[in-house]
Amino acid sequence: MKRKTPLVVGNWKMNPATLLEAEKLAVAVAKNQKKATEPLVAIAPPFPFLTAVGKKIATSTVSLVAQDVSTEPLGAFTGEVSAAQLRNLGCSYVIIGHSERRAMGETDEQIQKKVLIALKNKLTPIVCIGERERDAHGNFFNFVESQIRSLAKIIGPTEIKKIVIAYEPIWAIGTGNTATAQDVKEMQLFIVSVLTKVYSRATAEKVCLLYGGSVKPNNALELHQQGEMQGFLVGGASLKAEDFKAIIKAVQQ
Ligand code: PGA
Repeated sequence: MKRKTPLVVGNWKMNPATLLEAEKLAVAVAKNQKKATEPLVAIAPPFPFLTAVGKKIATSTVSLVAQDVSTEPLGAFTGEVSAAQLRNLGCSYVIIGHSERRAMGETDEQIQKKVLIALKNKLTPIVCIGERERDAHGNFFNFVESQIRSLAKIIGPTEIKKIVIAYEPIWAIGTGNTATAQDVKEMQLFIVSVLTKVYSRATAEKVCLLYGGSVKPNNALELHQQGEMQGFLVGGASLKAEDFKAIIKAVQQ
């Protein structure tokens, strides 16, 4: 089987405060990614900075990512940004269903629509899943399974291979409470087993899986080597070019 290409995505969230800082950060990330080496590297600035950041990374191998997308194609939807517009700005990926958006009321149904419209516009969806907390009885596995099954309702075997699934346990995001490498490995096996039940083993093995939640330079190597996902979705640490570089390096090894 062909090995899946590793991927590291920096989710800047609602940072930094100014365009100048965003451009500086983009330049610093791009400087380290001039050649097409693995892992693939991508950054997700806030919407207003997409164009400027896109220009700064244009001569590098870094890809542009949007942090969200509208369920609708075009029209009277104040404040929304469409998949076609994002594609037109040069985005290759879009984060969908991040827990911070789910916490603001985003539903599984909206996530399904966003995934479909992203695929239609040739954006690779990075779909975030993950439990709020862990219980001793392992019910969080059922929760993660239900999130994957909700996705599978609308995505066939060909399409699912074009999607990136980011496992981000909510208790680990921005808290410093990283999942252990064993937790990540266990979840990697579990997600593959659910995808196998729903599709097939061959299909399941082709879906790119990322881990996200307090990934830092000092834990990335262990999480990557023992967790055996294809890379990371990085929040806080992606705002410091040096930290982001160190995480990328951990995935290279
Ligand atoms: P964090 O965020 O790395 O700051 O925990 C990860 C994410 O929310 O994507």
